[in-house]
Amino acid sequence: MHNDDSGALLRLYTDRGVTFSHGEGCRLFTPTGKSYLDGTSGYGVALFGYGNREILAALSQQTLRLTTLHGSFRSPLRERVSRKLRERCSLPDYKVLWTNSGAEAVEAALKFAVLTSGKRRFLSFRGGYHGKTLGALSATPSGKYRQGLEPLLWEFTFLELGDESSFETALNDQFAAVIVEPIQGEGGVLLPPPGFLKRVRELCTDRGVLLILDEIQSGMGRSGTLLAGDQEGASGDLLLLGKGLSGGIPAGAVLVHPEVAERIPRLSHTSTFGGNPLACAGTEAVLTLLTEEFLERVVRLGHSFREGLSARSPEATVRGKGLMVGVDVGKPRRDHLLKALQREGVLALPAGEGTVRFLPPLTIAREEIQEILDAWSRAWEA
Ligand SMILES: Cc1ncc(COP(=O)(O)O)c(C=O)c1O
Repeated sequence: MHNDDSGALLRLYTDRGVTFSHGEGCRLFTPTGKSYLDGTSGYGVALFGYGNREILAALSQQTLRLTTLHGSFRSPLRERVSRKLRERCSLPDYKVLWTNSGAEAVEAALKFAVLTSGKRRFLSFRGGYHGKTLGALSATPSGKYRQGLEPLLWEFTFLELGDESSFETALNDQFAAVIVEPIQGEGGVLLPPPGFLKRVRELCTDRGVLLILDEIQSGMGRSGTLLAGDQEGASGDLLLLGKGLSGGIPAGAVLVHPEVAERIPRLSHTSTFGGNPLACAGTEAVLTLLTEEFLERVVRLGHSFREGLSARSPEATVRGKGLMVGVDVGKPRRDHLLKALQREGVLALPAGEGTVRFLPPLTIAREEIQEILDAWSRAWEA
């Protein structure tokens, strides 16, 4: 349903053909009250669904107190949340830069790598996605997003994710940094083989190249641990967070190794809204909610979700960790399935060439997973 105002928007997004006016729990509602189970969380943002009480309380209290405070003024809230964030990421001596989006976190990290190494060469991986601003796009190999914009910035080499020997051959001290997602989201929920990230970490250290871990999609509990890299024993010199970081308030963050941090010139990356109190209050609430017990539940739910999908579609490949789930079905079938699911009242996302991707709220109930599985069976037969 489109009202007369729809022509006011620049049409850059895919039109999913449905209008939503409000959300509650894991559901989105049309203006006429039809409900959809949201298997997307708004591309991974709504980790706690819609209208979560704790997040709402934190945001509304902060709204009454102070919503904007430039980074040139001190804020006990911003400082406390930065400390909590780095502690929870097990990077207690890293320094935190707050941004307004994932792509801005990528931009800042690339700039920091260049500024502190004096080099402008990067390694990145095929199937990777880091955003659409110029630096982030330069790190993103996908031709469909780069078309008409090349040449892009600096010098990026794209390698096969998981190919240890080509990585080992390509990496040398002429590179400023390697940027990698522990789980490629947009690329199709692709996991590098076990041990690959650890090897990337070791080789970066050996050859004096910075490692940028892009956990914008896989981080903040999505994979069943706070960071997906934790499961592989790999941490970045620069860690990127975004999406659900601040409970739905637009935000991103770069956590920077202290030895890198001390070499970054002042004012080399700032932004008006970065670290605004509303986003910080959202992050504090999110960190409180992401308990170990909560994350264990995400792991269990993820297992049974993936098992259910495999059982219902044995010819498809089901991948993922926690509640970051991909089902490879091939392109024509993928597009058909997404539409059929939507007709069944379930929202899912495309990824890669032929993957259906689920990023449901981490608070999803077992019964709601079952509802998605039942809809999946019907959509599979449709
Ligand atoms: C891994 C990864 N990095 C970066 C980005 C860019 O984030 P944003 O869309 O907030 O700019 C995304 C967004 O999907 C992402 O998944």
